[in-house]
Parts: sequence; structure tokens; C-alpha cells
Amino acid sequence: MEEKKRGRILSGMRPTGKMHLGNYVGALENWVAMQGEFENYHLIADYHALTTNLDTSKILGNTLEMIADWLAVGINPEKSPIFRQSQIKEHSELHLIFSMLITTARLERNPTLKEQVKDLNMESLIYGHLGYPVLQAADILLYKGNVVPVGEDQAPHVEITREIARKFNSTYGEVFPIPKTKLTTFARLPGLDGNKMSKSVGNTILLSDGEEEIKQKIRKAITDSQKIRRGDPGRPEICLVFTYHQRFNAAETEEITDGCRSGALGCVDCKMKCAGAIAAAISPFAEKRHYYSEHLDDVLDIIKDGERRARVVAADTMKEVRDVMSMG
Ligand code: TRP
Repeated sequence: MEEKKRGRILSGMRPTGKMHLGNYVGALENWVAMQGEFENYHLIADYHALTTNLDTSKILGNTLEMIADWLAVGINPEKSPIFRQSQIKEHSELHLIFSMLITTARLERNPTLKEQVKDLNMESLIYGHLGYPVLQAADILLYKGNVVPVGEDQAPHVEITREIARKFNSTYGEVFPIPKTKLTTFARLPGLDGNKMSKSVGNTILLSDGEEEIKQKIRKAITDSQKIRRGDPGRPEICLVFTYHQRFNAAETEEITDGCRSGALGCVDCKMKCAGAIAAAISPFAEKRHYYSEHLDDVLDIIKDGERRARVVAADTMKEVRDVMSMG
């Protein structure tokens, strides 16, 4: 018998290709941890990808690489359907209805959007980009998601989702739950240059990197600029490498703190310890990762199966939506 679950999780990502440590600690790790307790649905936001890049030629390849990593870290596709937004037409339909329930002024206040406009030096905004959180609300509410485990940058979108859900319910009738955001304790992992870890910046450590690659990358990471050679006292609290130790090498942080402060531990040795700890943390994923990267057809089959299952839920919700709107 199916055990009773605590609710439904809906979370997803744009198809950015191979996953990095920031994706893992910011979201994936949470998804896997909650997989037994909740009913998980995981979405590939391929329409959302168009908001910043109209080139569609790499979307499928990036999708398969991304999902190979999701599977490698422990998303179990039998429990948790994985599907593309573009393959389930109800996403577009619900997005259209939701776009009537929120003002452009509210969407212009979205801090995640403001940050993107600044980072990407955008001069003007594409209509669909302004509506990004409206499509995200449709993604979440189509599956009646109760909990949305995401990175910190996505919290404003969940807030907008809550507002849209309330507006729909009060206008037409109670159809949707009011979803909650769930952040990880390390919601924003810095990249190798100290900025947010992000593929477009090129400051990532990939989940598929081997120990040698990780060592090379960590070797170049910035540390306390006042600690130039072994013997100089360092300040772990401002050191990026120490942040990685805290997350991936918790057992040794005290020893590392003492060694760094006293100067007995040099940055090169500290970095090699750090690279070793990161490599050890992701090594359990390597075998599955390798299998799926050699069998991308299997990955596509898994996605298609997820789409069949997701479609059933999406169609049920849209029927309810049309019923309460007297548009059935
Ligand atoms: N906006 C999310 C991101 O960039 C991706 C996403 C789309 C999403 N729809 C979602 C996340 C629904 C959670 C729930 O990472």
C-alpha cells in the first residue's frame, strides 16, 4: 500500500546542462532528502530557458545532461516524475489564465528580475521575461505543489505564486494550495571567484568533475589576500575555501580554523584537503553519472514516462480550474 505522504513537492530548473555544486547544495540535495516523505514532481523549465536565450538547439542536449545528474544524485524517477514543461500543454493554458491575475507593476518589482536585468545588461525587457514568475506559478500550482524546495533566488517567485493562488481562489473558488518555499541551509554557495556559483559566469565545480579537475579548480580559488605564505596568520571567516570546508568537510573545520589562524596550515595544503573532501562528497554519484551519460536514450525514456504521469495530474487540475471558472 502506498504510504501516506506529507504533501506534494514541485520543483524544477531551467535546462542548463551539467549540474554544479551550487545546484546540488541549493536544491537537489533537498529534493532527494524529501523524496520519501513527500510526493515529488520535477520539472525541466525549457520554456523558461527562452527568456534569456532564443537559441533552442542546445535545449535537448542540456536537458539530458542535467537529468543524468539528477538521477546520479538520487532522484528516483519511479517515485518522482521528471518532465518537460513544453510537453504538457496545460502549463501554457494555466499561465494564460494566471497572467490576468497579477499586475505588471507587481512583476516589475521582482528582485530576481532586477538582478538579471543588471547582470545581463539588458536594455529592455521581453514580455515573456516579465511574466517568468507567472509561468512558474502555473508550473507549481498545476501539480498543487505544497512545498517548493529551491535556491534563495527563487523565493520571490514562490511569493508571487502564493499571491496568484490566493487571487484565483478568492475570485473563482478554492482550487489551489498556498505553497511554501523550502531553502537549504546553504542556499547560495559561492563560486570559485567568490560570486554566486553559476554556469554563465564559469566559476563552477561540476558534479561530474573528477578529483584532478577539482584540485585544479580549487588551486585557483581566492583565499584571504593577507595570507601570502605558510606562517602568515589567515582569517577563515572571510575565506572562500573555508566556506567549502564548512559544507563538505565539517569534521575538520576546527582543526583547519586553528591551523589557518596560527599560520601552521598553508593555503596550498588547505586547498588540497578541501578538494579531497569535495571529491569524496560527490564520488558516490560517479558510477550512475557515467552510466547515464553513456545511455542518454534511457534518460529520454525516463523523461517521457514522467511526462505521461504528469499529464494526468495536469489535466485533472485544469478540469477543476475550468469548472470553477464556468468555462468547462
Ligand atoms: N525558475 C527556476 C530556476 O531558474 C526554474 C523553475 C521553473 C522552477 N518553474 C519552477 C522552480 C517551478 C521551482 C518550481 O531555477
